[in-house]
Amino acid sequence: MYYPDELVEEVRMKNDIVDVISGYVRLQKKGANHFGLCPFHNEKSPSFSVSGGKQMYYCFGCGAGGNVFTFIMNYENYSFAEAVKMLADRAGVNLPEMEYSEEVQKKEGHRSRLLEVNKEAAKYYYYLLRSPQGEKGYRYLEGRALGKETMQKFGLGFAGMSGSSLVQYLRSKGYRDELVQEAGLAGFDEKYGMHDKFWNRVMFPIQDINHRVIGFGGRVMGDAKPKYLNSPETMVFDKSRNLYGLNFARTSRKNNVILCEGYMDVIAMHQAGFTQAVASLGTSFTSGQANLLKRYVKEVLLAYDSDGAGVKAALRAIGILKEAGLSGKVIRMEPYKDPDEFVKNLGAEAFQERMDRAENSFFFELRMLEREYDLTDPESKTGFHREIAKKLCGFSEDVERENYVQAVAERYHIGLENLRKLVVSYAAQTGFASPVVRPKSGIAAKKNTPEENRKKSQRLLITWLTEEPSLYPKIAKYITPEDFTEELYRKVADRLFEGLSKGEYQPASIISMFADEEEQREAAALFNTKLTELKTKQEREKALHDIIYTVKKNSYEYYSGRMGAEINAVNQVIAGKKALEELSKTHISLDE
Ligand code: CTP
Ligand code: MN
Repeated sequence: MYYPDELVEEVRMKNDIVDVISGYVRLQKKGANHFGLCPFHNEKSPSFSVSGGKQMYYCFGCGAGGNVFTFIMNYENYSFAEAVKMLADRAGVNLPEMEYSEEVQKKEGHRSRLLEVNKEAAKYYYYLLRSPQGEKGYRYLEGRALGKETMQKFGLGFAGMSGSSLVQYLRSKGYRDELVQEAGLAGFDEKYGMHDKFWNRVMFPIQDINHRVIGFGGRVMGDAKPKYLNSPETMVFDKSRNLYGLNFARTSRKNNVILCEGYMDVIAMHQAGFTQAVASLGTSFTSGQANLLKRYVKEVLLAYDSDGAGVKAALRAIGILKEAGLSGKVIRMEPYKDPDEFVKNLGAEAFQERMDRAENSFFFELRMLEREYDLTDPESKTGFHREIAKKLCGFSEDVERENYVQAVAERYHIGLENLRKLVVSYAAQTGFASPVVRPKSGIAAKKNTPEENRKKSQRLLITWLTEEPSLYPKIAKYITPEDFTEELYRKVADRLFEGLSKGEYQPASIISMFADEEEQREAAALFNTKLTELKTKQEREKALHDIIYTVKKNSYEYYSGRMGAEINAVNQVIAGKKALEELSKTHISLDE
């Protein structure tokens, strides 16, 4: 994965970030930047900014940010090397072929080794299903009405009867036991030693949006329990951020997604021509998955089981879809249990009809709620109406709520005025729901701890410097990269100062120093701290002075506390003291 830095930089420079991101997000120019709706979190007004000047993007809502590589890594779920490859292809830059020599393998990120071992396992299972040993599995799948092409498309396979045949196969391919274990493909215990996790099951490889195998589900061929075994979550298998079938669904060019409960449902749907079907991964549907779907469609049709558990799961999913700003509809499956059985019995056309008549998810919720009440009893009926009113308060937008109030009043024969009054009275108690704002993982609301304040002033200084690189000589007079006490900040400052001292200004290239997405995001935040709008030159001069002073003072205090522990601390303290004294009597001018 280690392409030379210059090559990485060439690829970056040949892929204008505004161009690239425009292919994914609708951007509008506003001042020096472009703005759009952030693809990484749910929002109604654009806080996602792309800067052509800095060649970076940053979301003021969720903190996602980085350069063009970070964007592709995040959006396409690629590793750094894969993002470089894709953008190199896009710009017609030739990359040297990567050879998987032993040495490179060692260096290669852990992620790609996990992906590789999964792929190898999938190949093995695939081969076994089509061999005499897999006959039982093949016949089982045929019995479930799957054709050869379908089995091929989904890469279905078979885990054999012997307890460790996969382990042995992977060993023969040179994979270490620890890796196989970490991938969740094998376990170890005293009695059996290394043994396959899956055996005597038909295997469903689970792929990410780029068709890479990230895990497996394995089904017994009869009624034994557990019916399905799934790979555990690993570094490459995040069950809450992937969906079964999405690798195909995302290019299906349909304007909705069919969300099913099971792997078999997805496969049966695709076979019947509904190539927009997906399912969650043996766990319930999550907001991460909803946001993933939101990148591709506005409408999700729920095709959950018709039994009690299915209804419950559907109600839960509806809430999550709504929160993500997706419109949800429910497909009626009766008299069949699930989409797989439905198409097997009634065919694709009948299913399409059901899709066309899918029920608005709010009315579905009400219909399910209604079952709990006895509408012939006035008291129970009133209780039902109260619950409806409460639910109507969930619409935060006036127009939408009013539309629903009217529709509900008509459908359930409730006086329109009475219903309105009831809704308002509940809203008075609880308020109309406003959209939920969830911070993205890891960036919970920042508190004003001394450490956070220290970091903030460092971020401000770096952002200011990148917005106005001409200030470099003035700042460099007092500040050195060592004053950035945060390790990642110091790395960034090192590169930035080095570049600026030579008159080069490429903040986006600095981001590529970090192969890890989280680090790229943090580095991007450094360049995108919100600067207060200052009108007069005087205000700006004072603000700059204060930031420089604060950074220097923090650094002085930091190194004072480390004297004895760090060799250069003494020098830093002496230099810091001198600079602070000078700063306290110097005015920094913004004039040339
Ligand atoms: N599931 C699981 N573990 C189980 C049972 C179910 O992980 N023991 C997950 C699987 O992802 C499965 C989904 O829940 O696909 C739905 O379960 P179910 O409806 O029971 O299975 P189907 O996909 O309908 O499979 P089949 O038609 O073969 O019974
Ligand atoms: Mn089923």
